[in-house]
Amino acid sequence: MIEDTSNGYEAVADAFVAARSSSTTGLAIVRKWAASLPRGGSVIDIGCGSGEPVTAALIDAGLAVSAIDASPALVAAFRQRFPDVEVACEPAERSRFFDHSFDGAVAIGLIFLLPESAQRDLIGRVAGALKPGGRFLFTAPRQVCAWDDVLTGRRSSSLGAEEYGRVLAQSELHLIAEHVDEGENHYFEAQKRAA
Ligand SMILES: C[S@@+](CC[C@H](N)C(=O)[O-])C[C@H]1O[C@@H](n2cnc3c(N)ncnc32)[C@H](O)[C@@H]1O
Repeated sequence: MIEDTSNGYEAVADAFVAARSSSTTGLAIVRKWAASLPRGGSVIDIGCGSGEPVTAALIDAGLAVSAIDASPALVAAFRQRFPDVEVACEPAERSRFFDHSFDGAVAIGLIFLLPESAQRDLIGRVAGALKPGGRFLFTAPRQVCAWDDVLTGRRSSSLGAEEYGRVLAQSELHLIAEHVDEGENHYFEAQKRAA
């Protein structure tokens, strides 16, 4: 059997694209964050899905975007929509993109899909790939909790604000802001120490 590293998203790719492509939830927060990065700066969109609407907003902000997603169907949709953007179909946990360095990294709707140890490891890998002063925006509930993903039925879990803050700090990232969007999704915004 082929391993599903997309945490169930490959099987629901069509339903996800249908639901997400026309959604503007969280866009204002992503746009504001993108505007805080250097114009033309490099950004990695981790768990990019089809690229709508998050990658599209990063491109509109004038950023040089690379992307990762573990679902072949979603990466195919992404390539059709953004043929000029480099996208890797691979699990974030093992992505070769983290050998590069970036001004920013964004992970919307991804971190909490991963097992807790993989969440911690991914935060560490993101920190390693950020330039000094680089920024990381990700979503996860503020409280420690676990729930079944509405689309995939898979278990998701949040480490909670206190633990995310601790893991970020261990990785040379400090929490600089938190945001809540119109869908009640919680965003953590962190920055790597300047050199
Ligand atoms: C809730 S969707 C969010 C997609 C996009 N960021 C957005 O905001 O519309 C989660 C995405 O993470 C991807 N994903 C799940 N597990 C992954 C993993 N281990 N590595 C990379 N991508 C993964 C799924 O394929 C899916 O596209």
